Amino acid sequence: MEHSVDKDGNPVNKGLLQSDELYQYILETSVYPREPEPLKELRAATASHPRAEMATAPDAGQLMAMLLKLVDAKKTIEVGVFTGYSLLLTALTIPDDGKIVAIDVNREAYEQIGLPIIKKAGVAHKIDFIESQALLVLDKLLENHENEGSFDFAFIDADKDNYWNYHERLMKLLKVGGLVVYDNTLWGGTVVMPDELTPERKKPSRLATIEFNKFLAADPRVQISHASLGDGITICRRLY
Ligand SMILES: C[S@@+](CC[C@H](N)C(=O)[O-])C[C@H]1O[C@@H](n2cnc3c(N)ncnc32)[C@H](O)[C@@H]1O
Repeated sequence: MEHSVDKDGNPVNKGLLQSDELYQYILETSVYPREPEPLKELRAATASHPRAEMATAPDAGQLMAMLLKLVDAKKTIEVGVFTGYSLLLTALTIPDDGKIVAIDVNREAYEQIGLPIIKKAGVAHKIDFIESQALLVLDKLLENHENEGSFDFAFIDADKDNYWNYHERLMKLLKVGGLVVYDNTLWGGTVVMPDELTPERKKPSRLATIEFNKFLAADPRVQISHASLGDGITICRRLY
């Protein structure tokens, strides 16, 4: 199966669909007509960024908005902001008095590209952006016992090697019934590739992703669904 690649050699269609045409069909039929204007604007503004491929895929975003609504999410965590596509999507979806703890080690792309659009959309008051290593912030949140079992939703899209560590913290921070969604759990399809066929840029984090997927499958604390959407997303619901 051949997929088109962008100027950096990254697949345009991140997913496992049979063809690029099928992916375009989904985007054009079901995703773009429903995508709110501020998200379209942010997607366009992100397209010229040299690392534009890091942004959450709009079809994965559409599923995320559905999940946020299904759990009636009000208090959420976002690990990995970049220009803020998934962050803005969350801010547009949760209620006006909802709150998002948004963490990224670097605020540049967020402040230069995302924030002006987020402000214009009138949802900046829902966002508490923290420039930091995510693990430090999650540990800090746990120092305040009131945060335990208080979050409805988390989206984890950074630092694949630490997913396991994030998961341990989130099993305390999420409510029972709350969701955590992990992005890139198929890691460009490399989870089933022999090491010698894996592109160099994908080698770091490949084994961590394989181990993390096995770990989640065996974790009795969560119900899971490993969806082949975008670059693979795993949806976990805290059971106890
Ligand atoms: C794939 S991008 C996030 C994309 C974003 N969800 C979106 O929709 O555009 C990953 C981001 O995680 C940040 N990051 C990397 N390691 C991190 C860490 N240890 N803690 C917090 N953020 C980190 C990077 O600076 C980058 O902006």
